[in-house]
Amino acid sequence: MHIKLKKFYSDPLLDVMDFLSEVTLDFPNAISFATGSPMETFFDVESSIVALDRFVEHRARITNKPRAVIFNSLGQYNRTNGIINDLVMRHLAIDEDIHVPPEAIMVTSGYQEAMAILMIGLFDPLTDVVLVSNPTYIGTTGLAKILGVPIVPIHMDEAGLNIDILLAALEEIRLDGKRPRALYEIPDFNNPLGTSMPLSTRHELLQVAYENDLIIIEDNPYGMFAYDGKRLPTLKSLDKDGVVIYIGTFSKTIFPGLRMGFLVADQQIESENRLLAEELSKVKGFTTVNTSPLLQAMVGGILLESNGSLLPIVESKLQFYRTNRDRMVARLAEEFGGDLGGHIRWNRPSGGFFLTVTLPFTFDEQCFRICASEYGLLCCPMSFFSLDHARDHQIRLSFSYVTLEQIDEGIRRLAQFVRDRLFG
Ligand SMILES: Cc1ncc(COP(=O)(O)O)c(C=O)c1O
Repeated sequence: MHIKLKKFYSDPLLDVMDFLSEVTLDFPNAISFATGSPMETFFDVESSIVALDRFVEHRARITNKPRAVIFNSLGQYNRTNGIINDLVMRHLAIDEDIHVPPEAIMVTSGYQEAMAILMIGLFDPLTDVVLVSNPTYIGTTGLAKILGVPIVPIHMDEAGLNIDILLAALEEIRLDGKRPRALYEIPDFNNPLGTSMPLSTRHELLQVAYENDLIIIEDNPYGMFAYDGKRLPTLKSLDKDGVVIYIGTFSKTIFPGLRMGFLVADQQIESENRLLAEELSKVKGFTTVNTSPLLQAMVGGILLESNGSLLPIVESKLQFYRTNRDRMVARLAEEFGGDLGGHIRWNRPSGGFFLTVTLPFTFDEQCFRICASEYGLLCCPMSFFSLDHARDHQIRLSFSYVTLEQIDEGIRRLAQFVRDRLFG
């Protein structure tokens, strides 16, 4: 039998995820500024398994039940929206100044499931349009393509999201007879750009969302990785009108193999005394049923050990990532300051895992391959993450999964590639 595939399979965007994971295997000796993986020397998986026991102990104590009963309950199907919502609630209050009841939280299998549930549960593909800041995380745009959710890119300028461009897009979508239903944004230490949304724009965006009946989906995997002092408040912590749905993940703060994250949807459902997260459980119940209770218990134990805050866990990692950021920026200045001065620009992100370099020529997939095979360096064309051609001259460099020596050598190789390209 021949299977005729659905149309989205041939969309090049969907090849990027596989391409990025497989290309590392194709060039095993290359230095990679392409992967945004966290460094696994920080994972401490063994202690996380021990933490599970602490969670069981804690639950046994507060419910007055034997340990064996609590342990076995982790082997059972469980509450659809999660069993550690109280602990996630405490983490949000302490670390993010977000104050919501446990019913407003749904524990999910990472960001990806949270977003899938929102896309399935909230949008009508016939009438609704989801706006995405562009370029953006391909996990989101790829998912929208698979689920048939129409997306409209909103161009980001040097400072990130531009409110005037957003307002113009809202107008245009309405003129087209569609409803702009939500905006997906990564305000803190953006992937792929490394930018952060200024405080004034955060306030403006919330106001625009309220006035336009627009949901904001705030994705915040990197917020706790701030390298230059005080963090800006999340959109959710500033949200007085309930326009923001917030998605968090433990992939970078703890480790991604947990596949553990959550969404916060504290919006009231019309004419019912229920919150949106509770209603969305109907979608989760028919997709993943519930998120592995064993893995939730591990995360629960880790949160209990650190008194509810992820800060003690993240703090030990900050120095490493900050030093890598500083080293990469310093090497860029050294390599591209002299004869190349003025031809090449880059930003200095105040947190997260990524920065943007702007080149005086287009860097496409062919450049990627030449760079990988001839120079032993992997770095991502920004066009991989873009829905238009505005970023064809840029690359995304990740500094999360490399040593200082690799940064030195990698930037040297990048400079050599650029020189050869420009001066032959
Ligand atoms: C912006 C953004 N959102 C979400 C994720 C992934 O989160 P998860 O591992 O929870 O699916 C990533 C990971 O790279 C990311 O960069």
